[in-house]
Amino acid sequence: MSAEEQQQNGEQVEAQQPADGEQVVTPWDVTGGADGKIDYNKLVEQFGCQTIGADLVERIERLTGCPAHPFLKRGVFFAHRDLKELLDAYERGEPFYLYTGRGPSSEALHLGHLVPFMFTKWLQDAFKVPLVIQLTDDEKFLWRGLSVEESRRLARENAKDIIACGFDVRRTFIFSDFEYVGGAFYRNIARIQRCVTMNQVRGIFGFTMEDNIGKIAFPAVQAAPAFPDSFPHMFGERKDVRCLIPCAIDQDPYFRMTRDAAPRLGHIKTALIESRFFPALQGESGKMSASDENSAIFVSDTPKQIKNKVNKHAFSGGGATAEEQREKGANLEVDVPWKWLNFFLQDDAKLEQIGREYASGRMLTGEIKAELIAVLTEMVERHKRARELVSDDVVDAFMTVRPMTDLYG
Ligand code: TRP
Repeated sequence: MSAEEQQQNGEQVEAQQPADGEQVVTPWDVTGGADGKIDYNKLVEQFGCQTIGADLVERIERLTGCPAHPFLKRGVFFAHRDLKELLDAYERGEPFYLYTGRGPSSEALHLGHLVPFMFTKWLQDAFKVPLVIQLTDDEKFLWRGLSVEESRRLARENAKDIIACGFDVRRTFIFSDFEYVGGAFYRNIARIQRCVTMNQVRGIFGFTMEDNIGKIAFPAVQAAPAFPDSFPHMFGERKDVRCLIPCAIDQDPYFRMTRDAAPRLGHIKTALIESRFFPALQGESGKMSASDENSAIFVSDTPKQIKNKVNKHAFSGGGATAEEQREKGANLEVDVPWKWLNFFLQDDAKLEQIGREYASGRMLTGEIKAELIAVLTEMVERHKRARELVSDDVVDAFMTVRPMTDLYG
């Protein structure tokens, strides 16, 4: 089927069944192909989204008057759906809002969890637009066997880390599903549920007859925030406010479903801007896991823990010995300290210099690790200081349903 035919028939929502050794990317499972790596080009093709080129990055800089965030410049956020249409509308002076979220499954966030929020914060500042953040405590209750009380507690704890990223309270509404479902939001959930059959969710998410029925109904809960009238205290009954979702690309199945339902419910299809996965310390085969302590750096880690984890566990593409490194140089393709610096070292010139020196063998593995440790320690300490300032009152301020006017400019 051509892309155009697909457009006419609605989204290509069904996932193909993967063969052995083929990569699997779903909201719950990220497994690389035969070599353990994610082939992002293949993913884009399979999902039917578009890649973000230099022209689009430049256009965003022009429209916002802000230099692009490193995540955008360096291809961390690398794919999109309908971003051009969204920017056209923005240029015409039409409003949009941002929507992102988190499933609160663990107490402390790791650095990979921060990536979409850091980028969303940049988008909010650059475009000066409102933002809704969904905490899917219900999702983690249904999937992870947590109690309702524990999921709710984690949602509030995670909200503090999210707020510490610096969001503007005048323009940001954070909500937990267990608290906010009801009213206009629930009416949209029900409308979406009526649009989607069991057959479709099975095709998209791989649900089986053994899955509990809460899981089967949940995708509509994650879809509903993409419709502005789910938030009457922000947008009234308006349906013409566009939505842009920054997320990791594993969330794409939810929003294929959402986009398929949108026109049938009189809504504009949500736009997406999607990221690669942040690699685990052990190397690039999928996402980090909050349950494997040593695969990730947590925002609560001490400087000592950061140093130890990087030195002991960060997969190195450098030579096995100093002599070998000096002679042959490092393989940047697989080197985790290099990859992580690409995420978090802001200074382009310094990054380039490190890459050059390390690849040529003039810089040693211990030295690039020391660079990374310095960057991470600074970042984590800054985050801790910001989080300490987030009191319960501040959490309430973000999470209270309140009339929000002054949302733009
Ligand atoms: N399902 C996501 C998770 O498990 C949470 C989430 C809800 C989300 N809504 C979202 C993520 C919108 C990105 C964008 O983390």
